[in-house]
Amino acid sequence: MQKNPLVGIVMGSDSDWPILRTAAETLKSFDLPYEAKVLSAHRSPDAALEYAASAAGRGIQVLIGAAGGAAHLAGVLAAKTALPVLAVPMPSKHLQGLDSLLSMVQMPAGIPVATFAIGEAGATNAALFAVAMLALNDAKLAQKLADFRQRQTEKVLAKTLPDLP
Ligand code: RP5
Repeated sequence: MQKNPLVGIVMGSDSDWPILRTAAETLKSFDLPYEAKVLSAHRSPDAALEYAASAAGRGIQVLIGAAGGAAHLAGVLAAKTALPVLAVPMPSKHLQGLDSLLSMVQMPAGIPVATFAIGEAGATNAALFAVAMLALNDAKLAQKLADFRQRQTEKVLAKTLPDLP
C-alpha cells in the first residue's frame, strides 16, 4: 500500500488484476501514488459504497473502476462520490467484454463515468487519463507526461519496415 494515494483502482475480482496491473504500472512509472483494491458491486456492495463515499476524504482525487460482465461497479462508485470515475471494461468469458463495455458506457444521464477501451489498452489509458487530470495542477507531472509522449513519438518514428524480397 502506497502512502497518501491520489488514485484509487477498484476491481470487481482478483481475476481482473492481470489486466489492471497495467494501470498500476503506468501510475507507478509516473511516481503517482495509488491504491488497488478488490471490491465487488454485488458481492461486497456495502464495502464498495463505503469505499467510494470515503475516498475524497482520504485524499483520493480520481477513481478507476474495472469490472466484467454486468459491470455496474464503476457506476456504483460514481453514485457515492463526486470524484471523476474512469471505467475500464474487463474482457468476459462469453461476450469478450462487449457486455462490460456496454454496461459501463450506457450510464443514464446524471451520474457519469468515463469509459475506456476493453482490457489492457483501457487500463493503460485510464491511468494516463488520471495522470493528465492530475497534471493540470502539477507542473512536474505535466512535464513527465510530455516526456512520456515525446518518447512514444520517437519510438514510432524510429520504426522501419522490411524491404520486399
Ligand atoms: C466481475 O465478474 C469481475 O469484475 C470479473 O471481471 C468478473 C468475474 O469475476 P470472478 O468470477 O473471476 O471472480 O464482477
